[in-house]
Amino acid sequence: MREIAVSGVRPTGKQHLGNYLGAVVNFVRMQEEYDGYFFIADLHSLTTHPRAADLQANVRQTLIEYLACGLDPDKCTLFVQSHVPQISELYLIFNMFAYDGELHKVPTFKDKVRTQPDNVNAGLLTYPVLMAVDILIHHAMKVPVGKDQMQHIEMTRNFGNRFNHTYGVEYFKEPIGFNYGDAPLSVPSLDGEGKMSKSKGENTVIYLMDEPDAIRKKIMKAPSDSGPKEPGQPKTEAVQNLFDLMKLVSKPDVIAHYDQAYHDCAIRYGDMKKQIAEDMTVFLTPIRERIREISADQAYLTRVMEEGGEKARASAQKTVTEVREIIGLKSR
Ligand code: ADP
Ligand code: TRP
Repeated sequence: MREIAVSGVRPTGKQHLGNYLGAVVNFVRMQEEYDGYFFIADLHSLTTHPRAADLQANVRQTLIEYLACGLDPDKCTLFVQSHVPQISELYLIFNMFAYDGELHKVPTFKDKVRTQPDNVNAGLLTYPVLMAVDILIHHAMKVPVGKDQMQHIEMTRNFGNRFNHTYGVEYFKEPIGFNYGDAPLSVPSLDGEGKMSKSKGENTVIYLMDEPDAIRKKIMKAPSDSGPKEPGQPKTEAVQNLFDLMKLVSKPDVIAHYDQAYHDCAIRYGDMKKQIAEDMTVFLTPIRERIREISADQAYLTRVMEEGGEKARASAQKTVTEVREIIGLKSR
């Protein structure tokens, strides 16, 4: 039997290069080796009260892009979180194993209190409980996520252990965060600082759907500096970001060429950015084309969601039935 992996993304609309290389490629690789449950976390996104039409469009768009990136419904279970009502039932039960004090201390919660003080709802506070249930309900052992989510995985282990301890069972196992390679990959932002994120503005991210023209315009606007004055001078963050972006999409000889040019103080950042834009376009064109093809096939999308939902519900129902039994709730 293959080990189980679970991961989800919130349906925030178009996926960008950071989402793809940081998250989705891991799922695509994992589907070959694991029994993967990959889903769109639409319930989680309710904390921000999206408009109904936007939520629906974003769920569909995220699914389209997952498929375009290579997730294959014949190799993994691809589903929408809200299509599995068992998750909501287990979430209620797990709220009894999450303490108010620990939930208030979670860094992602404290961030929200700071950034959106007018909407600190209880769903936000119990976000990690819902996430733990996403994972435990399928008995996942591996959870491919970025660094910012590791604390939630630790909480998942705590909630599962508390359940076990309370009822004197060894029912839930301990899942761990997982990445191929030593550390999660981080895609730099086009504004020259930190990592690519939608929250930093439209012009700082490259969407999987961006046309070549948009890709070029955004990359040409990325900041650099006035150039190295002496051989071996350390790079500024903006320039390091350009090199890091290049490493993601360009061939080794191209990268070596620009490394040497930087070292020789002969680098022309305009040329380098043109090259990154060209290589980025080559990298993203097949994905963009698949997005267009899949978007046109609504019947296929509906079928993928229905079949994935059915498989996920079967796995989730088994857990809920067993949990009801353990805690003494009468099964229907
Ligand atoms: P954003 O910051 O644009 O809102 P999300 O927080 O929705 O992105 O991230 C969704 C997933 O994509 C997460 O698993 C996250 O770790 C990954 N991710 C987002 N941005 C990057 C990035 N710049 N580099 C690597 N992974 C990223
Ligand atoms: N909280 C995750 C994020 O913001 C998304 C998510 C929801 C998730 N449920 C999950 C990730 C379960 C892994 C497993 O990126």
